[in-house]
Amino acid sequence: MNIVIANESHFKYAPIICDTIGESAKVRGTGIAKRTPEYIHKKLENGNAVIALDGETFAGFCYIEVWGHNKYVANSGLIVHPDYRAQGLAKKIKKKIFELSRQKFPDAKIFGITTGLAVMKINYELGYKPVTFSELTDDPEFWKGCQTCKNFDILTRTEQKMCLCTGMLYDPNVKAKQENKETKKVNSKAFRRLKSIKESLFLSKNKTK
Ligand SMILES: CC(C)(COP(=O)(O)OP(=O)(O)OC[C@H]1O[C@@H](n2cnc3c(N)ncnc32)[C@H](O)[C@@H]1OP(=O)(O)O)[C@@H](O)C(=O)NCCC(=O)NCCS
Repeated sequence: MNIVIANESHFKYAPIICDTIGESAKVRGTGIAKRTPEYIHKKLENGNAVIALDGETFAGFCYIEVWGHNKYVANSGLIVHPDYRAQGLAKKIKKKIFELSRQKFPDAKIFGITTGLAVMKINYELGYKPVTFSELTDDPEFWKGCQTCKNFDILTRTEQKMCLCTGMLYDPNVKAKQENKETKKVNSKAFRRLKSIKESLFLSKNKTK
């Protein structure tokens, strides 16, 4: 498996990347921000993406988005092809894109929003902490990405304060102070419980409309 910083030579993989993201969202039945092949091309051109290839076969992908005038960076669009899951590939891709983000944007806070326990676990191990949405970027362009998510009405209803996703943030300044502390593992049980509380609060309200 080759995990590399992607460039123009990987343009041919843009359609399969978008299809795999779309298909996975359908299977999970969760919301997702839509990506087009043209959008993926831009990421490849700018050297802001990581691709995993098994020979010539697409295995996984993730890209960097920059918000709030370089103050915030998000590692988005993480996808591992179903044939390559449960082998630690997402963890390796995330580590690589995290290192690339730190190298290209050393002063930026790195953040993400997710409903997935896998991503939560990986982010936690990289030094992210769960935070409220108010600690994430207020760049309207970032939040516009949520418009194509099927849960967007929840974000609107809560005036962008909360949604089914959990916000996670890596702050380079805080991290420097904590470097000597032992790495903690995410509490999966607590995360599942929180997710279920949020779903029953937000989704049941929706159903009664
Ligand atoms: C989520 C996804 C990227 C995980 O890829 P993967 O290569 O199978 O993940 P890894 O093997 O690196 O697993 C990383 C950790 O997450 C856990 N994990 C993986 N899939 C999981 C799942 N569906 N539910 C709960 N935990 C999961 C693993 O057990 C591992 O935990 P550990 O460190 O305690 O062993 C992949 O399933 C995927 O592409 N899903 C669809 C797209 C998606 O959900 N993207 C994230 C959007 S926010």
